[in-house]
Amino acid sequence: MCGIFAYLNYLTPKSRLEVLDLLVTGLKRLEYRGYDSTGVAIDSPDNKNIVMVKRTGKVKVLEEAIQEHFSAGDYSEPVMTHIGIAHTRWATHGVPCERNSHPHRSDDGNGFVVVHNGIITNYNDVKTFLAKRGYEFESDTDTEVFAKLVHHLWKTHPTYSFRELVEQAILQVEGAFAIAVKSKHFPGECVASRRSSPLLVGIKTKTRLATDHIPILYGKADDKKLGPDQDSDSGKPQVLPRSESTSEFMPLEEKEVEYFFASDASAVIEHTNRVIYLEDDDVAAVRDGTLSIHRLKKSLDDPHAREITTLKMEIQQIMKGNYDYFMQKEIFEQPDSVVNTMRGRVRFDGNAIVLGGIKEYIPEIKRCRRLMLIGCGTSYHSAVATRQLLEELTELPVMVELASDFLDRNTPIFRDDVCFFISQSGETADTLMALRYCKQRGALIVGITNTVGSSICRESHCGVHINAGPEIGVASTKAYTSQFISLVMFALVMSEDRLSLQQRRLEILQALSKLADQIRAVLKLDSKVQELAKDLYQHKSLLIMGRGYNFATCLEGALKVKELTYMHSEGIMAGELKHGPLALVDDSMPVLMIVLRDPVYVKCMNALQQVTSRKGCPIIICEEGDEETQAFSSRHLEIPRTVDCLQGILTVIPMQLLSYHIAVLRGCDVDCPRNLAKSVTVE
Ligand code: G6P
Repeated sequence: MCGIFAYLNYLTPKSRLEVLDLLVTGLKRLEYRGYDSTGVAIDSPDNKNIVMVKRTGKVKVLEEAIQEHFSAGDYSEPVMTHIGIAHTRWATHGVPCERNSHPHRSDDGNGFVVVHNGIITNYNDVKTFLAKRGYEFESDTDTEVFAKLVHHLWKTHPTYSFRELVEQAILQVEGAFAIAVKSKHFPGECVASRRSSPLLVGIKTKTRLATDHIPILYGKADDKKLGPDQDSDSGKPQVLPRSESTSEFMPLEEKEVEYFFASDASAVIEHTNRVIYLEDDDVAAVRDGTLSIHRLKKSLDDPHAREITTLKMEIQQIMKGNYDYFMQKEIFEQPDSVVNTMRGRVRFDGNAIVLGGIKEYIPEIKRCRRLMLIGCGTSYHSAVATRQLLEELTELPVMVELASDFLDRNTPIFRDDVCFFISQSGETADTLMALRYCKQRGALIVGITNTVGSSICRESHCGVHINAGPEIGVASTKAYTSQFISLVMFALVMSEDRLSLQQRRLEILQALSKLADQIRAVLKLDSKVQELAKDLYQHKSLLIMGRGYNFATCLEGALKVKELTYMHSEGIMAGELKHGPLALVDDSMPVLMIVLRDPVYVKCMNALQQVTSRKGCPIIICEEGDEETQAFSSRHLEIPRTVDCLQGILTVIPMQLLSYHIAVLRGCDVDCPRNLAKSVTVE
């Protein structure tokens, strides 16, 4: 979803062309989040104006426009201090077009320009307020009201600092947002803030920073809102509360410094590994090269400072390497990513598992009334995939919920519930809202995420980092298998002291130790899968059938096909075949069936017979050497044998490869499917 990237150089000379290059590269790193238009803003060569370039479509289109636009004028002259802001937009208010692309401006003179991620829910009220004061709007976005509101405050409070103006504006807006603001009136300064949308500040200095913390400065303010009942038609002048920061600490002051404001770490890692993750309602301001973090109000549990964290991520992790697409790279990384998920946690020699992030909570979890697994999309499927094992090894009722539906139903939640929130990004709005809903009701919150420092991580009581490494392709692949393994590990921890389950645990642990090699074996099917894709790619639909431990693979496989290829696809519980889906089967309907030697094998064979006797000719995913099953079709993919509860990891890989190859054959954008975003930060 929308991406913010801003770059401020202080006493570190850079030409505007170099700044533009940095901005465009930053946007490229955020492309995977999903977007439909782009834009940048920098200072004009005479420093008297702000120049903006915006385009619909890909960052590449913006890059070409920038080359054209900035060929004239002196943009190659170095500037000591400068701030540039850039954005990838994922349309929510108004269609994707240049007019709606960010940055948005406050007035014809580009006094203030804003990039924004999220939704300002009360934008209509603020718009009405501003319209009455003569402001005219040029876009359909909610963002534009923010730029104009800052301008209005600047007009009415000329003594306010840039940071104070933005702070005051933030007081007036509701909803979820991350913003970065640049101003002609405050050259070389940047103010950024967030509420429920991620934003971090990267810091690059020549020498090692003298501190690991940035103190928080608190102000004094009451929440006075603008609104129809408060507008100046009542005759009274608008008086806004002013924050007066009381500084007991020195903010971060460096002689030569570069700052990066970004929606996520992948956009800054090539410049610096030192970052601060901003918290909700933090206002980060850079003035004269000094970064300070402010909050308007202090609450009892507020910390004194924000920590500067060192990112563990490597630049290679966010590059494509020799692969054509990130998704392809991520599929092929799975032998390593599953090992990384288990690293330091599973001891195969002693058959022991330690999950450091939840260790202390295990006694409490064991006493709970039920487990709830909540997520969206692929993350939800990882819950479906592991539910049966969790029920078996924890002997607790396990509910699996789509976050959006869970919220719609106002599901009853109790203090003795343990709620797992599964999310690759850790920022998915529905999952985060569901988390807050459960937290308010006193449940124990466990986060299962791939993104250190994400909102879900920070708001959970405890959790497991799946450690799959950055996932760039919009369609999730390696995060799924790592979420799957994290939940399996949790089930193993929960059954550690159950004598009757030891044999089963041993069987699973042994299977986990072989998993990486078995995934490598499945990946060798790539060219065979590519051949099957050639048979399928011109069809309109693909039905994927299975049951038991492989039903989740059917759902996840169908989701991958839909997301990547825009073909219709449906994951069908084979047990439901006779209750409807069988009507779809004939000699022309493409069908894929998962039939493995597990407790539901006989039932799956039954389904296979029903399909073939209706002239269906399915592709079968079966076990290596299983001639009896293979006899039902000339097209089959053989996967190595593993324990039943881990089969889903091996069966999902051919589905990932199949959707990938069909997408390539259909000429689809593999890494950024149309209309989709990697991190869905709006409801
Ligand atoms: C989006 C992505 C999916 C992802 C889902 C949940 O829809 O396109 O790939 O599965 O969000 O995301 P999360 O980050 O919470 O796992």
